[in-house]
Amino acid sequence: MKALILSGGKGTRLRPLTYSGAKQLVPVANKPILWYGIEGIVAAGITDIGIIISPETGEEVKELTGNGDRFGAKITYLLQEHPEGLAHAVKIAQSFLGDSPFIMYLGDNLIQRELNPFLEQFKQQNLDSLILLRPVSNPSAFGVAKVDRNGRVLQLIEKPKDPPSNLALVGIYFFSPRIHEAIAQIKPSPRGELEITDAIQQLIDTSATVEARTLEGWWLDTGKKDDLLEANRIILDTQIRPKIMGELDESSQAIGRVQIGKGTKIVNSSIRGPAIIGENCYLENCFIGPYSSIADGVTLIEADLEHSVVLQSAKIMGIHQRLVDSVIGRRAQLTIAPRRPKALRFMIGDDSHIELT
Ligand code: G1P
Repeated sequence: MKALILSGGKGTRLRPLTYSGAKQLVPVANKPILWYGIEGIVAAGITDIGIIISPETGEEVKELTGNGDRFGAKITYLLQEHPEGLAHAVKIAQSFLGDSPFIMYLGDNLIQRELNPFLEQFKQQNLDSLILLRPVSNPSAFGVAKVDRNGRVLQLIEKPKDPPSNLALVGIYFFSPRIHEAIAQIKPSPRGELEITDAIQQLIDTSATVEARTLEGWWLDTGKKDDLLEANRIILDTQIRPKIMGELDESSQAIGRVQIGKGTKIVNSSIRGPAIIGENCYLENCFIGPYSSIADGVTLIEADLEHSVVLQSAKIMGIHQRLVDSVIGRRAQLTIAPRRPKALRFMIGDDSHIELT
């Protein structure tokens, strides 16, 4: 059994963060989203992993993620020159996959449950495909399944205008090598991509064994800011254990489940968990409220924030209003202008969102 993780794409919904980096590398609780997927796959006993990368962000994905040693896996990187669809990515990976069955995992999906029960069912029933479904309120944004009373999949449609059900396809699929024949039969969709949804439909049409399971627990498709904040909240809530490796002075306190990385100094500040602060940060006169993730090398002075994500080497200084529900990009600076005339001064990247009161 092998695994194929898709980590290409342009991440348009997470702009501006994704102008300068891959969406799959945006951190959730200070860990790249992609790594949760890798860890889940390795935990299911699969260690031979291919990762599809794009020319734009592939080098960064490779450099950060490495050859798999840190996960106890062997990672092979496969370049998809153009974003021509999920089924096209499988085509590119054909020489890596050979005639092995595999799990395909979209690198921006995060799930709560283990993969093992699904893997067992896929193997034991000798299926050509096992797909995971999940009721959603906006099915038109996903691949959607029409199932009969016994849960058998009758039809799959990618991003339907008029969805036949509210059951979305989760971005985690199990395939036998028969998927390659199915992909060879399909044509590009109206959006010009070879859709994996159409390839699974092709399997159904040719009487292959396709089963669906409903995914319990949380599922996050971290494509947008609010999804990212929600993923951050859930991971902090469920996975953070207290661990203080940095230094807090006598007038600082960390209450509840708080992680602080080494080399970080905290002066006259309160941190209320669940929260995570990376390495080599400097915090002075701050309040950091629950559900906040502060990446490495961040400077926060006179800052008050909650339910927010601050990325690497950002600086927030002298803002005497609470920041909430915010994502601050790498190296971004939020400060108070020291001189007159008293005015707001901005240098804001493309597609940024600022809400002032
Ligand atoms: C892709 C698939 C879609 C699936 C979704 C899950 O959509 O095409 O069928 O429901 O992932 O995350 P995309 O996120 O590429 O729009």
